[in-house]
Amino acid sequence: MKALLLAGGLGTRMRPLTEWMPKPMAPVGNRPWLEHLVLHLKDQGIDEFVFAVKHYPDRIRDYFGDGSRFGVRIEYAVETKLLGTAGAIKNAEPLLSDRFLVLNADIIYQVPLVPLLDYHAGHGGAVTIGLTEVDDPSHYGVVEQTDSGRIVRFVEKPQKQEAPSNRINAGVYVMEKKALSFIPPGRQVSIERETFPLLIQQGLGVYGMPLRGYWMDMGTRERYRQVHWDLLDRKLNLPLKGKENGKGIWQGENIEIGSGVLFVPPVLIGDRVRIGDRSVIGPYAVIGDDCELGRGVRCTETIVWDHCKVSHNTQLNHCIFGSDLEIGARQILYEAVMNRMPEAMLP
Ligand code: GDD
Ligand code: MG
Repeated sequence: MKALLLAGGLGTRMRPLTEWMPKPMAPVGNRPWLEHLVLHLKDQGIDEFVFAVKHYPDRIRDYFGDGSRFGVRIEYAVETKLLGTAGAIKNAEPLLSDRFLVLNADIIYQVPLVPLLDYHAGHGGAVTIGLTEVDDPSHYGVVEQTDSGRIVRFVEKPQKQEAPSNRINAGVYVMEKKALSFIPPGRQVSIERETFPLLIQQGLGVYGMPLRGYWMDMGTRERYRQVHWDLLDRKLNLPLKGKENGKGIWQGENIEIGSGVLFVPPVLIGDRVRIGDRSVIGPYAVIGDDCELGRGVRCTETIVWDHCKVSHNTQLNHCIFGSDLEIGARQILYEAVMNRMPEAMLP
């Protein structure tokens, strides 16, 4: 069984963090989310992948290559123009098996997929959609089902009062290849707005099954932070790099900690991090690899990607920093979300 990971969206709601990278490459606990996802699927017996990429495809390809470093096989379906969610699947058709999984790669999941695959094999329809429930379904694809689980209506991002239920598309599908003949090639097609409604109308058998486990669309900066706090609280139980001291403080290798530094858990510190005297880190801080924090820095509810430098006595609260940033001394930053212009982009 192959898994097709949709990783080509623009990630506009996560800007400026996703300005130079595909959203699934954003680190979650100091490791690209896509890596966590591949390893999580591998744990469930899925070791053949197709990555559907468009936006900064080389960021993904350079990192994963053919997948051998991760013990899996990865092929790439690259789009020259944005094809939408169904268009991307159609574009990957020659690489897919008769039955395959599709996952939106920008969603944080820790869910068992075998029950979904078993359910799909049992009902005989063309598609099974993994579902979850949310309070406000208006930002998602919403389904209406019969008692047998068959989906009779799929509405993408309805007005709140028009949503037929609170059950939404969790962005995980099991599909039969025959469903792809309903996707016109070579143009932008949305699986949510065009293909699912068409398959339902044509009676191909579209079913839905609730997923168990952790699920969060990291779509916005706020939810990106929440994913991290859930990770540190271990509500999201992905493996973390570094040694835990048993009290919610994870430390990477080769770190240098000054005197009088206070860690207020939960805190995750990457490899080769240096922290100056009397700094206070946490609660809820994630510091990426190769970062340098000066003396007297305070850092709470903040995520710092790798290679950042924060000078003396600066305070960071509720911030998210992209890689390679430098913050001066005695700055007070509150809710700052920053990224750095790469060399290649300079005028
Ligand atoms: N390759 C490729 N090409 N990938 C794409 C393209 C494209 O043209 N457009 C979107 N994607 C990828 C995105 O990277 C993301 O992983 C996935 O397809 C879904 O697209 P989004 O643009 O992120 O959709 P959304 O978040 O607004 O809504 C989707 O997710 C919800 C669950 O969080 C929909 O599938 C909803 O129905 C669903 O409820
Ligand atoms: Mg999304």
